[in-house]
Amino acid sequence: MNRAPHLFLVGFMGAGKSTVARLVAHRLGRPYVDLDALIEQRAASPVAAIFEERGEEAFRDLESEALDSVESMAPAVVACGGGVVLRADNRSTLKRLGSVVYLEVTAGEALARIGDTQSRPLLSGPGGTLAATSLLSAREALYRSVADMTIETGGRTPEDVAREVVAFMESGR
Ligand code: S3P
Repeated sequence: MNRAPHLFLVGFMGAGKSTVARLVAHRLGRPYVDLDALIEQRAASPVAAIFEERGEEAFRDLESEALDSVESMAPAVVACGGGVVLRADNRSTLKRLGSVVYLEVTAGEALARIGDTQSRPLLSGPGGTLAATSLLSAREALYRSVADMTIETGGRTPEDVAREVVAFMESGR
């Protein structure tokens, strides 16, 4: 099977999507695109401020627009925000525009990797652990529903995970 143009990395906050996507883009000689950065650029505002000032639905609208804008770009490796799979339209767009790799992480490891949750509005309130656990369990099936491949990232380095993504892309499976 020929790989569809883009490669999207999806998964929960703290799964390592941005770090791994940067490494994979470098190895495949493709541009790296960070969907959150694209949203911030288009909105001229940080993600946390968008949530605070305009609310989550407005952020999701911007996220869908940013995802749609990827269609006109050269084949890239795209790190998606953890909530990109929430909307059915986004899930169709991901499948239509490319291959999707799901980076799996537990809620505990995600929080440990994130450290300071100030930039993650959905986790920054009190009860971050509970929020992470319930958000992740609500989303797990959605991540799986779009994934062409799933990689467990627990206890692994980003380099190791990136190698597996590259091998998948080169395997033509
Ligand atoms: C979100 C994940 C964040 C960012 C926003 C919402 C989510 O991206 O898009 O805070 O709903 O899971 P990362 O997954 O890159 O942290």
